[in-house]
Amino acid sequence: MKYSRIIGTGGYLPEKVVTNDDLSKTLDTNDEWIRTRTGIRQRHVASPEQDTSDLALIASQRALASAGLAADDIDLIVVATTTPDMVFPSTACVLQDKLGINNGSAAFDVQAVCSGFIFALATADRMIVSGMAKNALVVGAETMTRTLDWTDRGTCVLFGDGAGALVLQASETPGVLSSHLHSEGRQRHILNVPGQIRDGKIYRSPFVYMDGGAVFRFAVRVLAESTEEALAHNGLQSADIDWLVPHQANSRIMDATAKKLSVPPEKVISTVAGQANTSAASIPLALDYGARQGCFKPGQLLALTAVGSGFAWGASLVRWG
Ligand code: COA
Repeated sequence: MKYSRIIGTGGYLPEKVVTNDDLSKTLDTNDEWIRTRTGIRQRHVASPEQDTSDLALIASQRALASAGLAADDIDLIVVATTTPDMVFPSTACVLQDKLGINNGSAAFDVQAVCSGFIFALATADRMIVSGMAKNALVVGAETMTRTLDWTDRGTCVLFGDGAGALVLQASETPGVLSSHLHSEGRQRHILNVPGQIRDGKIYRSPFVYMDGGAVFRFAVRVLAESTEEALAHNGLQSADIDWLVPHQANSRIMDATAKKLSVPPEKVISTVAGQANTSAASIPLALDYGARQGCFKPGQLLALTAVGSGFAWGASLVRWG
């Protein structure tokens, strides 16, 4: 088959909601500051009993239902996560078991932090096109709030938990048109969780560190650049984009990216107000939101673009339906 095509989407957000006002009860912050700087109003937080794979499981079951496939039809699982259940095995292997899949097909994780879903989609797409798989479950799932220092107002207001999933199927018609991935490891100091398990203890900080201004500038530049690269590769222009589905880090980053690309605000999918930054889960959650709202029509061009710690970033162009 020449292409892979999205045939179903699913999403899951944990029941517990923490609003900006809730945070301001224990932190020197307020709803107005958070909303005007980030567009975020609330975030969902996983319960202590929920692992990342539990969030991924519900999103995956919903994606399978929308695709009309049974779990056993899946012959590839790629999970993008930076907050896995455990050091190993992969969250994808845990998810495979929780889905009851026992067909021996491949399941593995991709770790590219907030850009992880684009990396996972690109990997699954190429594996399908090369004939290695027919029906892939591509998941972004995170429990980012577990990496937050809830006394650091500069970072803890920004993130939330959630999972999004899609089913990608081999197809003669597009589908994923192309993906363009990039990394710049020398920028790893501006956003990271430096902690490491060593000798039975956590060595270095287990919390998110961020130079917010540096991240902001880098993000706006590369989100637009990689989208332009994807358009040029396919002989398309930004006017051809029906929907921009950017990583949901912050409404100011999304607005600036859309402006750079001359994409009008009404063509941008935005879920950040209700979900905050769910890292690798944000794009599949936004795709699921757009699909369920009936935004996307068959044949429409979707531009997906994400950036995150690494730094790592990329863009994919997708024909819907
Ligand atoms: N509530 C109230 N005040 C806060 C605050 C909060 N939650 N967080 C920071 N502040 C304060 C700072 O302490 C600082 O106070 P000071 O001037 O007294 O030192 C002031 O607000 C301005 O801080 P600054 O960091 O300059 O704010 P900013 O306008 O750059 O916005 C971010 C900060 C984090 C919102 C912005 O840099 C950003 O969006 N960066 C990108 C973050 C991101 O998306 N990361 C993930 C990418 S995948």
